[in-house]
Amino acid sequence: MSSSESDSNSKPKGGWYPETRALHEGWHPDAPGEPLAAPWQPSTVFRHPEQGLSDASWSYTRLDNPNRSQLERTLASLEGGSQALVFSSGMAAVQAAFHILDPGDHVLLPDDLYHGVRILIRDQYERWGLTCDFVDTTRPDAVADAATPRTRMLWLETPSNPMLRITDIRALTALASERGWISVVDNTWTTPVIQRPLELGADMAHYSTTKYMGGHSDVLGGALVLRSGEDMAPVHERLRSLQRQAGAVPSPFDCWLLLRSIKTLHVRIRSQCASAIAIAEKLAAHPGVEMVHYPGLPAHPGHEVASRQMDLPGAMISFQVKGDDATALRVAASTRLVLPATSLGGVESTWEHRKTSEYEGTSTPGNLIRLSVGLEHPDDIWKDIEQALAAAVPETDGDHR
Ligand SMILES: Cc1ncc(COP(=O)(O)O)c(C=O)c1O
Repeated sequence: MSSSESDSNSKPKGGWYPETRALHEGWHPDAPGEPLAAPWQPSTVFRHPEQGLSDASWSYTRLDNPNRSQLERTLASLEGGSQALVFSSGMAAVQAAFHILDPGDHVLLPDDLYHGVRILIRDQYERWGLTCDFVDTTRPDAVADAATPRTRMLWLETPSNPMLRITDIRALTALASERGWISVVDNTWTTPVIQRPLELGADMAHYSTTKYMGGHSDVLGGALVLRSGEDMAPVHERLRSLQRQAGAVPSPFDCWLLLRSIKTLHVRIRSQCASAIAIAEKLAAHPGVEMVHYPGLPAHPGHEVASRQMDLPGAMISFQVKGDDATALRVAASTRLVLPATSLGGVESTWEHRKTSEYEGTSTPGNLIRLSVGLEHPDDIWKDIEQALAAAVPETDGDHR
Protein backbone atom coordinates (compact mmCIF):
# COMPACT_ATOMS: atom_id res chain seq x y z
CA MET A 1 0.00 0.00 0.00
CA SER A 2 1.27 3.51 -0.70
CA SER A 3 2.50 5.48 2.29
CA SER A 4 0.41 8.27 3.74
CA GLU A 5 3.20 10.68 2.72
CA SER A 6 2.80 9.95 -0.99
CA ASP A 7 -0.96 9.35 -1.33
CA SER A 8 -3.22 11.92 -2.88
CA ASN A 9 -5.23 12.24 0.32
CA SER A 10 -2.17 13.61 2.07
CA LYS A 11 -2.02 16.59 -0.28
CA PRO A 12 -3.66 19.72 1.12
CA LYS A 13 -6.97 20.62 -0.50
CA GLY A 14 -8.20 24.13 0.10
CA GLY A 15 -5.00 24.70 2.07
CA TRP A 16 -5.48 22.07 4.76
CA TYR A 17 -4.53 18.42 4.99
CA PRO A 18 -7.43 15.96 5.53
CA GLU A 19 -6.44 15.38 9.18
CA THR A 20 -6.76 19.12 9.75
CA ARG A 21 -10.04 19.35 7.86
CA ALA A 22 -11.45 16.51 9.95
CA LEU A 23 -10.97 18.73 12.98
CA HIS A 24 -11.74 22.21 11.68
CA GLU A 25 -14.06 21.98 8.65
CA GLY A 26 -17.29 21.53 10.62
CA TRP A 27 -16.66 23.97 13.43
CA HIS A 28 -13.79 26.40 13.94
CA PRO A 29 -14.26 29.21 16.49
CA ASP A 30 -13.12 32.54 15.08
CA ALA A 31 -14.44 35.10 17.55
CA PRO A 32 -13.14 35.60 21.11
CA GLY A 33 -15.25 33.75 23.65
CA GLU A 34 -16.52 31.15 21.16
CA PRO A 35 -16.40 27.57 22.43
CA LEU A 36 -13.80 25.17 21.00
CA ALA A 37 -16.32 22.32 21.01
CA ALA A 38 -19.17 22.79 18.52
CA PRO A 39 -22.34 23.86 20.33
CA TRP A 40 -25.03 21.17 20.32
CA GLN A 41 -28.25 22.58 18.86
CA PRO A 42 -31.19 20.40 19.93
CA SER A 43 -33.94 22.87 18.99
CA THR A 44 -36.32 21.48 16.38
CA VAL A 45 -37.67 24.95 15.53
CA PHE A 46 -35.96 28.27 14.78
CA ARG A 47 -37.43 31.78 14.92
CA HIS A 48 -38.10 33.28 11.50
CA PRO A 49 -36.06 36.26 10.32
CA GLU A 50 -37.96 39.58 10.03
CA GLN A 51 -37.89 39.50 6.24
CA GLY A 52 -39.41 36.00 6.25
CA LEU A 53 -37.88 32.59 5.53
CA SER A 54 -35.21 32.15 2.89
CA ASP A 55 -33.06 29.18 1.85
CA ALA A 56 -30.32 30.53 4.10
CA SER A 57 -32.39 30.51 7.32
CA TRP A 58 -32.74 27.75 9.84
CA SER A 59 -36.36 26.85 10.27
CA TYR A 60 -37.11 23.24 11.22
CA THR A 61 -34.66 20.45 12.09
CA ARG A 62 -36.08 17.85 9.68
CA LEU A 63 -35.08 20.27 6.90
CA ASP A 64 -31.72 21.26 8.33
CA ASN A 65 -29.88 21.86 11.57
CA PRO A 66 -26.53 23.51 12.38
CA ASN A 67 -24.98 20.24 13.64
CA ARG A 68 -26.15 18.38 10.55
CA SER A 69 -24.71 20.93 8.21
CA GLN A 70 -21.37 20.90 10.10
CA LEU A 71 -21.26 17.12 9.66
CA GLU A 72 -22.19 17.27 5.97
CA ARG A 73 -19.53 19.91 5.34
CA THR A 74 -16.90 17.76 7.03
CA LEU A 75 -17.82 14.58 5.14
CA ALA A 76 -17.90 16.34 1.78
CA SER A 77 -14.51 17.83 2.47
CA LEU A 78 -12.91 14.53 3.55
CA GLU A 79 -14.17 12.76 0.44
CA GLY A 80 -13.25 15.60 -1.89
CA GLY A 81 -16.93 15.55 -2.91
CA SER A 82 -19.17 18.44 -3.75
CA GLN A 83 -22.07 17.57 -1.44
CA ALA A 84 -22.74 15.20 1.41
CA LEU A 85 -26.16 14.22 2.73
CA VAL A 86 -26.51 12.47 6.06
CA PHE A 87 -29.20 10.03 7.13
CA SER A 88 -30.35 8.30 10.29
CA SER A 89 -28.57 5.03 9.40
CA GLY A 90 -26.45 3.48 6.70
CA MET A 91 -29.53 1.66 5.42
CA ALA A 92 -31.55 4.89 5.25
CA ALA A 93 -28.77 6.21 2.99
CA VAL A 94 -28.95 3.04 0.84
CA GLN A 95 -32.71 3.48 0.58
CA ALA A 96 -32.31 7.11 -0.52
CA ALA A 97 -29.80 6.06 -3.20
CA PHE A 98 -32.21 3.45 -4.61
CA HIS A 99 -35.02 5.99 -4.54
CA ILE A 100 -33.42 8.03 -7.29
CA LEU A 101 -34.31 5.09 -9.57
CA ASP A 102 -37.67 4.35 -11.16
CA PRO A 103 -39.74 1.17 -10.95
CA GLY A 104 -38.52 -1.21 -13.68
CA ASP A 105 -34.93 0.01 -13.46
CA HIS A 106 -32.14 -2.54 -13.08
CA VAL A 107 -29.27 -2.45 -10.59
CA LEU A 108 -26.04 -4.44 -10.67
CA LEU A 109 -24.52 -5.34 -7.30
CA PRO A 110 -21.65 -7.53 -6.04
CA ASP A 111 -22.48 -11.14 -5.22
CA ASP A 112 -20.67 -10.64 -1.92
CA LEU A 113 -21.93 -7.53 -0.11
CA TYR A 114 -23.43 -6.37 3.18
CA HIS A 115 -26.37 -8.75 3.57
CA GLY A 116 -28.72 -5.96 4.70
CA VAL A 117 -28.64 -4.45 1.21
CA ARG A 118 -29.61 -7.78 -0.33
CA ILE A 119 -32.48 -8.16 2.14
CA LEU A 120 -33.70 -4.59 1.55
CA ILE A 121 -33.87 -5.31 -2.18
CA ARG A 122 -35.56 -8.69 -1.70
CA ASP A 123 -38.17 -7.52 0.82
CA GLN A 124 -38.85 -3.94 -0.32
CA TYR A 125 -37.57 -3.05 -3.77
CA GLU A 126 -38.51 -6.15 -5.73
CA ARG A 127 -42.15 -5.49 -4.73
CA TRP A 128 -41.62 -1.92 -5.89
CA GLY A 129 -40.44 -3.07 -9.30
CA LEU A 130 -36.67 -2.71 -9.13
CA THR A 131 -34.79 -5.56 -10.80
CA CYS A 132 -31.31 -6.59 -9.70
CA ASP A 133 -28.47 -8.94 -10.48
CA PHE A 134 -25.73 -9.91 -8.06
CA VAL A 135 -22.51 -10.49 -9.99
CA ASP A 136 -18.82 -11.06 -9.42
CA THR A 137 -17.68 -7.43 -9.62
CA THR A 138 -14.04 -8.52 -9.37
CA ARG A 139 -14.54 -9.43 -13.06
CA PRO A 140 -15.44 -6.39 -15.18
CA ASP A 141 -16.49 -8.72 -18.05
CA ALA A 142 -19.08 -10.38 -15.76
CA VAL A 143 -20.51 -6.96 -14.93
CA ALA A 144 -20.70 -5.92 -18.58
CA ASP A 145 -22.39 -9.25 -19.47
CA ALA A 146 -25.03 -8.90 -16.74
CA ALA A 147 -26.22 -5.46 -17.91
CA THR A 148 -29.69 -5.03 -19.38
CA PRO A 149 -31.18 -2.14 -21.38
CA ARG A 150 -32.76 -0.97 -18.09
CA THR A 151 -29.53 -0.98 -16.04
CA ARG A 152 -29.25 2.39 -14.32
CA MET A 153 -27.03 1.83 -11.30
CA LEU A 154 -23.85 -0.04 -10.44
CA TRP A 155 -23.47 -0.60 -6.70
CA LEU A 156 -19.99 -1.61 -5.50
CA GLU A 157 -18.61 -2.63 -2.15
CA THR A 158 -14.86 -3.13 -1.84
CA PRO A 159 -13.48 -4.78 0.23
CA SER A 160 -16.73 -6.75 0.27
CA ASN A 161 -18.50 -7.94 3.36
CA PRO A 162 -17.66 -10.58 4.57
CA MET A 163 -15.27 -12.16 1.99
CA LEU A 164 -13.08 -9.06 1.47
CA ARG A 165 -13.16 -9.37 -2.31
CA ILE A 166 -11.53 -6.46 -4.07
CA THR A 167 -13.21 -4.72 -7.00
CA ASP A 168 -11.25 -2.41 -9.28
CA ILE A 169 -13.13 0.84 -8.69
CA ARG A 170 -11.44 2.73 -11.53
CA ALA A 171 -12.20 0.04 -14.12
CA LEU A 172 -15.80 -0.48 -13.01
CA THR A 173 -16.73 3.19 -12.65
CA ALA A 174 -15.25 3.80 -16.13
CA LEU A 175 -17.58 1.09 -17.47
CA ALA A 176 -20.53 2.67 -15.62
CA SER A 177 -19.76 6.11 -16.97
CA GLU A 178 -19.41 4.75 -20.53
CA ARG A 179 -22.83 3.08 -20.22
CA GLY A 180 -24.51 6.01 -18.46
CA TRP A 181 -25.09 4.18 -15.16
CA ILE A 182 -24.83 5.89 -11.79
CA SER A 183 -21.97 4.33 -9.83
CA VAL A 184 -22.06 4.09 -6.05
CA VAL A 185 -19.33 2.65 -3.83
CA ASP A 186 -20.14 1.56 -0.29
CA ASN A 187 -16.97 2.84 1.37
CA THR A 188 -18.00 2.01 4.93
CA TRP A 189 -15.14 -0.43 5.58
CA THR A 190 -12.37 1.88 4.43
CA THR A 191 -13.49 5.50 4.91
CA PRO A 192 -11.78 8.31 2.98
CA VAL A 193 -8.68 7.79 5.13
CA ILE A 194 -7.97 4.62 3.11
CA GLN A 195 -9.94 4.83 -0.14
CA ARG A 196 -11.63 7.71 -1.93
CA PRO A 197 -14.09 6.39 -4.55
CA LEU A 198 -14.90 9.81 -6.03
CA GLU A 199 -11.23 10.29 -6.95
CA LEU A 200 -11.38 6.85 -8.60
CA GLY A 201 -14.33 7.83 -10.79
CA ALA A 202 -17.45 7.01 -8.72
CA ASP A 203 -20.49 9.26 -8.75
CA MET A 204 -21.33 8.62 -5.11
CA ALA A 205 -19.76 7.18 -1.99
CA HIS A 206 -22.01 5.56 0.58
CA TYR A 207 -21.22 5.27 4.29
CA SER A 208 -22.67 3.61 7.29
CA THR A 209 -21.24 6.24 9.64
CA THR A 210 -22.25 3.85 12.43
CA LYS A 211 -18.94 2.04 11.84
CA TYR A 212 -15.49 3.72 11.65
CA MET A 213 -16.80 7.29 11.39
CA GLY A 214 -18.66 6.90 14.68
CA GLY A 215 -15.99 4.53 15.93
CA HIS A 216 -17.27 4.08 19.48
CA SER A 217 -20.28 1.77 18.97
CA ASP A 218 -22.67 4.45 20.24
CA VAL A 219 -24.15 6.27 17.23
CA LEU A 220 -26.14 5.17 14.18
CA GLY A 221 -25.89 7.08 10.91
CA GLY A 222 -25.42 7.04 7.17
CA ALA A 223 -24.18 9.33 4.43
CA LEU A 224 -24.00 9.80 0.68
CA VAL A 225 -21.23 11.95 -0.75
CA LEU A 226 -21.61 13.12 -4.35
CA ARG A 227 -18.89 14.04 -6.83
CA SER A 228 -18.91 17.55 -8.21
CA GLY A 229 -20.16 18.27 -11.71
CA GLU A 230 -23.24 19.89 -13.20
CA ASP A 231 -24.59 16.50 -14.30
CA MET A 232 -24.86 15.56 -10.60
CA ALA A 233 -27.08 18.54 -9.74
CA PRO A 234 -30.39 16.71 -10.46
CA VAL A 235 -29.20 13.70 -8.38
CA HIS A 236 -28.28 16.01 -5.53
CA GLU A 237 -31.61 17.83 -5.71
CA ARG A 238 -33.54 14.56 -5.70
CA LEU A 239 -31.58 13.20 -2.74
CA ARG A 240 -31.87 16.45 -0.80
CA SER A 241 -35.64 16.52 -1.29
CA LEU A 242 -35.90 12.85 -0.25
CA GLN A 243 -33.83 13.53 2.86
CA ARG A 244 -35.96 16.52 3.86
CA GLN A 245 -39.36 15.17 2.85
CA ALA A 246 -39.01 11.60 4.15
CA GLY A 247 -37.09 12.79 7.22
CA ALA A 248 -34.80 9.78 7.86
CA VAL A 249 -32.30 12.23 9.32
CA PRO A 250 -29.88 11.90 12.24
CA SER A 251 -30.64 13.81 15.42
CA PRO A 252 -28.55 16.91 16.18
CA PHE A 253 -26.87 14.99 19.01
CA ASP A 254 -25.96 12.09 16.70
CA CYS A 255 -24.45 14.61 14.26
CA TRP A 256 -22.55 16.24 17.12
CA LEU A 257 -21.23 12.85 18.28
CA LEU A 258 -20.16 11.91 14.76
CA LEU A 259 -18.39 15.21 14.23
CA ARG A 260 -16.54 14.67 17.50
CA SER A 261 -15.55 11.10 16.49
CA ILE A 262 -14.36 12.14 13.03
CA LYS A 263 -11.72 14.33 14.70
CA THR A 264 -9.83 11.15 15.62
CA LEU A 265 -10.73 9.11 12.50
CA HIS A 266 -7.28 9.26 10.89
CA VAL A 267 -5.34 8.21 14.00
CA ARG A 268 -7.86 5.49 14.87
CA ILE A 269 -7.85 3.97 11.37
CA ARG A 270 -4.07 4.05 11.01
CA SER A 271 -3.53 2.40 14.37
CA GLN A 272 -6.27 -0.21 13.77
CA CYS A 273 -4.78 -1.01 10.34
CA ALA A 274 -1.26 -1.45 11.78
CA SER A 275 -2.63 -3.97 14.30
CA ALA A 276 -4.74 -5.70 11.63
CA ILE A 277 -1.70 -6.22 9.36
CA ALA A 278 0.20 -7.90 12.22
CA ILE A 279 -2.78 -10.05 13.22
CA ALA A 280 -3.58 -11.12 9.63
CA GLU A 281 0.01 -12.33 9.20
CA LYS A 282 -0.16 -14.32 12.43
CA LEU A 283 -3.51 -15.82 11.49
CA ALA A 284 -2.13 -16.85 8.08
CA ALA A 285 0.68 -18.76 9.82
CA HIS A 286 -1.56 -20.42 12.41
CA PRO A 287 -2.14 -24.18 12.08
CA GLY A 288 -5.76 -23.87 13.22
CA VAL A 289 -6.60 -21.46 10.38
CA GLU A 290 -7.55 -22.73 6.94
CA MET A 291 -7.66 -19.41 5.08
CA VAL A 292 -7.34 -15.68 5.77
CA HIS A 293 -9.19 -13.08 3.69
CA TYR A 294 -7.27 -9.83 4.00
CA PRO A 295 -6.16 -7.64 1.06
CA GLY A 296 -2.93 -6.68 2.84
CA LEU A 297 -1.59 -10.21 2.44
CA PRO A 298 0.35 -10.70 -0.83
CA ALA A 299 -1.44 -14.03 -1.36
CA HIS A 300 -4.88 -12.32 -1.48
CA PRO A 301 -6.22 -12.41 -5.08
CA GLY A 302 -7.10 -8.70 -4.89
CA HIS A 303 -3.81 -7.59 -3.35
CA GLU A 304 -2.51 -5.85 -6.45
CA VAL A 305 -5.72 -3.89 -7.12
CA ALA A 306 -6.01 -3.08 -3.42
CA SER A 307 -2.44 -1.73 -3.41
CA ARG A 308 -3.45 0.68 -6.18
CA GLN A 309 -6.70 1.98 -4.73
CA MET A 310 -6.28 1.66 -0.95
CA ASP A 311 -3.68 3.55 1.07
CA LEU A 312 -3.87 0.90 3.82
CA PRO A 313 -5.40 -2.61 3.80
CA GLY A 314 -8.08 -1.85 6.40
CA ALA A 315 -8.80 -3.25 9.85
CA MET A 316 -11.33 -5.93 8.89
CA ILE A 317 -10.18 -9.54 8.56
CA SER A 318 -12.22 -12.63 7.76
CA PHE A 319 -10.70 -16.05 8.36
CA GLN A 320 -11.84 -19.62 8.08
CA VAL A 321 -10.88 -21.99 10.86
CA LYS A 322 -9.94 -25.62 10.23
CA GLY A 323 -13.23 -27.29 10.97
CA ASP A 324 -16.95 -26.71 10.50
CA ASP A 325 -19.65 -24.31 11.69
CA ALA A 326 -19.51 -25.78 15.20
CA THR A 327 -15.73 -25.27 15.43
CA ALA A 328 -16.03 -21.63 14.32
CA LEU A 329 -18.92 -21.02 16.74
CA ARG A 330 -16.78 -22.48 19.55
CA VAL A 331 -13.83 -20.24 18.62
CA ALA A 332 -16.06 -17.15 18.46
CA ALA A 333 -17.41 -17.92 21.94
CA SER A 334 -13.98 -18.58 23.50
CA THR A 335 -12.56 -15.06 23.74
CA ARG A 336 -11.87 -13.10 26.90
CA LEU A 337 -11.04 -9.75 25.30
CA VAL A 338 -12.37 -9.70 21.74
CA LEU A 339 -16.10 -9.17 22.10
CA PRO A 340 -18.44 -11.55 20.28
CA ALA A 341 -20.71 -9.01 18.62
CA THR A 342 -21.95 -7.89 15.22
CA SER A 343 -21.13 -4.59 13.50
CA LEU A 344 -17.59 -3.28 13.14
CA GLY A 345 -15.30 -0.29 13.20
CA GLY A 346 -15.44 0.39 16.94
CA VAL A 347 -12.48 1.11 19.19
CA GLU A 348 -13.00 -2.28 20.83
CA SER A 349 -12.16 -5.44 18.87
CA THR A 350 -15.22 -7.52 17.98
CA TRP A 351 -15.76 -10.66 15.98
CA GLU A 352 -18.61 -12.89 14.97
CA HIS A 353 -19.53 -16.16 13.32
CA ARG A 354 -20.76 -14.31 10.26
CA LYS A 355 -23.04 -16.95 8.76
CA THR A 356 -25.40 -16.92 11.74
CA SER A 357 -25.68 -13.11 11.53
CA GLU A 358 -26.78 -13.23 7.89
CA TYR A 359 -29.93 -14.26 6.04
CA GLU A 360 -31.08 -17.81 5.47
CA GLY A 361 -29.40 -19.27 2.40
CA THR A 362 -26.29 -17.06 2.63
CA SER A 363 -23.20 -18.38 0.86
CA THR A 364 -20.86 -17.22 3.67
CA PRO A 365 -18.81 -20.27 4.71
CA GLY A 366 -19.86 -21.80 8.03
CA ASN A 367 -16.28 -21.88 9.34
CA LEU A 368 -15.76 -18.13 8.80
CA ILE A 369 -15.19 -15.57 11.55
CA ARG A 370 -15.21 -11.87 10.77
CA LEU A 371 -12.89 -9.80 12.94
CA SER A 372 -12.96 -6.04 13.44
CA VAL A 373 -9.60 -5.05 14.89
CA GLY A 374 -9.88 -2.35 17.54
CA LEU A 375 -7.48 -0.14 19.43
CA GLU A 376 -6.35 -2.54 22.14
CA HIS A 377 -2.64 -3.42 22.13
CA PRO A 378 -2.16 -5.80 19.17
CA ASP A 379 -0.30 -8.32 21.36
CA ASP A 380 -3.29 -8.50 23.71
CA ILE A 381 -5.66 -9.04 20.78
CA TRP A 382 -3.44 -11.77 19.34
CA LYS A 383 -2.97 -13.51 22.70
CA ASP A 384 -6.75 -13.70 23.04
CA ILE A 385 -7.28 -14.99 19.49
CA GLU A 386 -4.55 -17.56 20.00
CA GLN A 387 -6.07 -18.91 23.21
CA ALA A 388 -9.54 -19.02 21.58
CA LEU A 389 -8.15 -21.06 18.66
CA ALA A 390 -6.25 -23.32 21.06
CA ALA A 391 -9.42 -23.88 23.09
CA ALA A 392 -11.62 -24.75 20.13
CA VAL A 393 -9.63 -26.01 17.11
CA PRO A 394 -8.21 -29.53 17.50
CA GLU A 395 -5.36 -28.87 14.97
CA THR A 396 -3.95 -26.12 17.18
CA ASP A 397 -1.04 -26.85 19.48
CA GLY A 398 2.09 -25.08 20.75
CA ASP A 399 2.97 -21.44 20.69
CA HIS A 400 2.34 -19.59 17.42
CA ARG A 401 3.26 -16.08 18.44
C1 LIG B 1 -20.84 -2.22 4.38
C2 LIG B 1 -22.08 -1.81 5.12
N1 LIG B 1 -22.99 -1.02 4.51
C3 LIG B 1 -24.12 -0.65 5.11
C4 LIG B 1 -24.42 -1.03 6.40
C5 LIG B 1 -25.71 -0.62 7.05
O1 LIG B 1 -25.49 0.42 7.97
P1 LIG B 1 -26.41 0.72 9.24
O2 LIG B 1 -26.35 -0.48 10.13
O3 LIG B 1 -25.79 1.96 9.81
O4 LIG B 1 -27.78 0.96 8.74
C6 LIG B 1 -23.51 -1.87 7.08
C7 LIG B 1 -23.84 -2.34 8.44
O5 LIG B 1 -23.27 -3.27 8.96
C8 LIG B 1 -22.31 -2.25 6.42
O6 LIG B 1 -21.40 -3.05 7.02
